[in-house]
Amino acid sequence: MKTALPCCWLCTMLMYIITISSTSSDTGGTVQVVGSAEPIVALVGDDVILPCTLRPTVSAVYQTVEWQRPDLKPKEVHLYRDEKDDLALQNRLFGGRTSLFKEELVEGNASLKLTRVELSDAGNYTCYVPLLDHQKTTIQLIVGESTHLLTTQSPLRDRSHEIKGAASRPVISIEGIKGDEVVLRCEAEGCYPEPVMEWCDVHGRVLPAAGPPETSRDREGCYTVTSHVIVPKTDNNTFTCRVQQPEIKHMKERRVHIPDQMFPTQCQSSWLTGLVAALVGVAVGVAVVAGGLSLLIKIGMLTISMEPWTSVMQNP
Ligand SMILES: *[C@@H]1O[C@H](CO)[C@@H](O)[C@H](O)[C@H]1NC(C)=O
Ligand SMILES: *[C@@H]1O[C@H](CO)[C@@H](O)[C@H](O)[C@H]1NC(C)=O
Ligand SMILES: *[C@@H]1O[C@H](CO)[C@@H](O)[C@H](O)[C@H]1NC(C)=O
Repeated sequence: MKTALPCCWLCTMLMYIITISSTSSDTGGTVQVVGSAEPIVALVGDDVILPCTLRPTVSAVYQTVEWQRPDLKPKEVHLYRDEKDDLALQNRLFGGRTSLFKEELVEGNASLKLTRVELSDAGNYTCYVPLLDHQKTTIQLIVGESTHLLTTQSPLRDRSHEIKGAASRPVISIEGIKGDEVVLRCEAEGCYPEPVMEWCDVHGRVLPAAGPPETSRDREGCYTVTSHVIVPKTDNNTFTCRVQQPEIKHMKERRVHIPDQMFPTQCQSSWLTGLVAALVGVAVGVAVVAGGLSLLIKIGMLTISMEPWTSVMQNP
């Protein structure tokens, strides 16, 4: 025991010296605080690691590392400084659930471990290292509630029975006619994360929506997403509205078939054709009758009956 202590002390000193030298050699602003561009997904009750590392590898042992949730008050999630945790300002939501990997700090690993994840933990976390040019990185945590484990390889499918907050089956309605096209409306509700909505044709090709989706959020934080599409008549008027929450691998869709008669084009054009045909018919008829009459007049067969009229016409 007595020999172990000085050795330990020596190790610490050595590490300190290595840290100082590597820090000073890297302080050209080249050290980066790296998090995760991809959101981190966890399920209620899980333990999760929010990644934050210093790259190239630099010890974080003598740094101040501040984990925060900027949307909360107080925003402190976990503060490490002067080589120890300082949880005096920690938000009570995280009480007893946060820790850093102390033995990994020397490797520049300042990742946060959050245990027993709750739905309210969903949000954006920042890992802030003030001494490294005030660098911070933001990591998004998504929380699902599920009886099944979701991995990045899990296929997108209907998970409404597994995950609270998964989007509902969309509802499609016909909103009206625009020119010779039909306007469709699709609406779905989902709690977290924000659902993404898209329209597809019968071959699965994504159709451009008529404007950006409209999103509203209620007091519980649940979203209602609405999207419109304007569709021309096609050979198979089948359209799909799909709502997805890729982070929780959830997908739900509804198909609609629009009867041909809904499209005004056909109907209007046949009506127009009919009208034109009728007008032409009437015109031809009139011409034939007029021609016949003038022929009769010319050959003198109608002189008597037409006399008063023709005399008036010819007199001046
Ligand atoms: C940090 O250390 C923890 C604990 O060993 C490990 O699980 C995690 O993957 C490490 N993070 C990075 C980014 O290396
Ligand atoms: C977190 O950040 C992402 C991307 O920057 C953003 O889309 C999202 O709305 C944020 N979430 C919250 C809860 O602030
Ligand atoms: C056309 O729509 C019907 C449903 O109305 C569907 O059963 C059929 O498979 C569709 N045809 C093609 C080629 O997709």
